Amino acid sequence: MPHNGAMNYDHAFHAGNHADVLKHLVLLTLIDALARKPAPFFVLDTHAGRGDYALDSSAAQATGEAALGVRRLHDWSLAQPLLAPALARYLRAVRPALEARRYPGSPLLAADTLRENDRLACCELQPEAAQQLRSLFARDPRVGIHQRDGYAALKALLPPKEKRGLVLIDPPYEAQLAEFDQVIDALKEGLARWPQGIFALWYPIKQRRALAPFYRRAAALPARSALVAELMRHADDSPLRLNGSGMLVLNPPWKLDESLLGALPQMGRALGETHDPWRLDWLRREST
Ligand SMILES: C[S@@+](CC[C@H](N)C(=O)[O-])C[C@H]1O[C@@H](n2cnc3c(N)ncnc32)[C@H](O)[C@@H]1O
Repeated sequence: MPHNGAMNYDHAFHAGNHADVLKHLVLLTLIDALARKPAPFFVLDTHAGRGDYALDSSAAQATGEAALGVRRLHDWSLAQPLLAPALARYLRAVRPALEARRYPGSPLLAADTLRENDRLACCELQPEAAQQLRSLFARDPRVGIHQRDGYAALKALLPPKEKRGLVLIDPPYEAQLAEFDQVIDALKEGLARWPQGIFALWYPIKQRRALAPFYRRAAALPARSALVAELMRHADDSPLRLNGSGMLVLNPPWKLDESLLGALPQMGRALGETHDPWRLDWLRREST
């Protein structure tokens, strides 16, 4: 898979924003579902980032995105008598880092949930970020770090010997709408190699109507079922900013929709500044 080599994206500017909140809550809900069965599972994080972010770095402070994301959700949650279990679980996972003015990336959150025989493979193209991941997990034999193209890794690392597990695809979308073509191709490739795997794809929402071809193509993928969960901070009326984001989950585990149906309205209430801040839709349902 070609990538253009010019990488400007740095997740340090965005760590802990509303998009990370949605992505990581869904990620933890998926991994918890896998951990309910005793057989070992495998997680592939194709675009892993650096794994751990300082919220008082100049990058994070320049955007202030975490203040309007995870911190706002955390503060909001303190006054709530009853939190949805998936949301309470996410906040428990990130609280120690927040107290240290940090935010954990997907590799740390996933690794915290692995059992002794589960495995995590993280791909990251940016050399410094890959090096930071290597240091973070130097003493964890369950975690492998690959400084390589995450899309190509779908071919190289799937199917895993464990047979069960999850692929998280979280690219920077520097190529804008063209990246949607790439992710659909990547999902096709992944499903062809690992039809029973769970695939979770994060995607940005600027104007939802521009995503119509993506939804159509996602619904036509050869998965048993496909669910989308979306969280909007702003109305989807400007092509210039990240108004919200979504997670497409192929082959979701049983009752994922129920878990998210509890958490999404609460996240929407805490973070949304629009009257319609969340959505949960089946693009394709398993035929019974
Ligand atoms: C959105 S960030 C990942 C955040 C991370 N998944 C998390 O949730 O904490 C995207 C990352 O992908 C990396 N990247 C960009 N193109 C890549 C590629 N083709 N293969 C692997 N990593 C890539 C970027 O350097 C960046 O660190």
